[in-house]
Amino acid sequence: MHKPVMSAEVIEGLAVKTGGRYIDATLGDGGHAQALLEAIGPTGRLLGVDRDAEALEQARSVLWDWREQYVEARANFESLAEVASTHDFLGADGVLFDLGVRSAQLDHPERGFSFMQDGPLDMRMDQRQDWTAADLVNEWTESELAQVIWRYGEERAARRIAAAVVARREERRFTRTLDLAEVVELAVGGRRGKTHPATRTFQALRMRVNEELQAIEIGVRSAIDLVRPGGRIAVLTYHSLEDRLVKQICNRHVGQWQSLQAGGQEWVGEQPQLQRVTRKPLVPSVAEVRENPRARSAKLRIVERMKT
Ligand SMILES: C[S@@+](CC[C@H](N)C(=O)[O-])C[C@H]1O[C@@H](n2cnc3c(N)ncnc32)[C@H](O)[C@@H]1O
Repeated sequence: MHKPVMSAEVIEGLAVKTGGRYIDATLGDGGHAQALLEAIGPTGRLLGVDRDAEALEQARSVLWDWREQYVEARANFESLAEVASTHDFLGADGVLFDLGVRSAQLDHPERGFSFMQDGPLDMRMDQRQDWTAADLVNEWTESELAQVIWRYGEERAARRIAAAVVARREERRFTRTLDLAEVVELAVGGRRGKTHPATRTFQALRMRVNEELQAIEIGVRSAIDLVRPGGRIAVLTYHSLEDRLVKQICNRHVGQWQSLQAGGQEWVGEQPQLQRVTRKPLVPSVAEVRENPRARSAKLRIVERMKT
């Protein structure tokens, strides 16, 4: 199992208390969940959510010793409000989101996330979903493809890549990840620097197939609504699109004080009101990045629901 990213900072940032009730909205392999369970002690409770059945299975064995205090739910965190209500976690003390895919999803080529190892063009986090990356790549129009690659991958060569994909699929449909990675690499014009030329395109397809930004928007908003006043939310992101969105959602609830013409000030923002626990996002230590390259791009934002 890979070490959870910024685990100490997450526990400290959430101000985890003995006997508390916490939600891990992205259970993955259960690394952060284990740290949370250790911190809440025998009287605390944890709800672990993931949309990937393999993640839940893996976490179950890691968290076996805490089975009396731990409840799992297979769900998209988009439905966090409903899941929390079902399991009696409304008014929780804190919620953690550790976004993106787990390392095992990337390491298992049969899940179709990797452009380094060959696998089916799949990319579904939840394998009950009835469409895959192959459907997107083979069926969507050239302009739809270009838009996805541009919007979710921030890839400057999006149009060129979309045109190359459409030209190739007229001869033969795409079914494998490496096949697509090669076409993208050619369209981008070969390798430059350390990053694989298909990185952004694969990120874009993954985000669209799993509707990740929509889930973040709804999930983080639900977490803000459901934590108790004084409760905290911690979000770990791994690229700028995710981080920007999380920042925007939080800013709306942090709001701002505006001067009134008649004198005094009024707070303008969305309820419930939040305050930032850290002004800037936290980043991992040099030592952690050296030990765990996956942590390299991590940013941790922590907010607290105001006690009104
Ligand atoms: C980076 S991993 C979490 C790793 C975990 N914190 C650990 O310590 O092992 C992200 C996990 O979130 C899950 N996930 C991503 N988006 C999700 C969503 N919208 N709803 C539920 N789970 C999601 C993925 O399936 C993956 O298992």
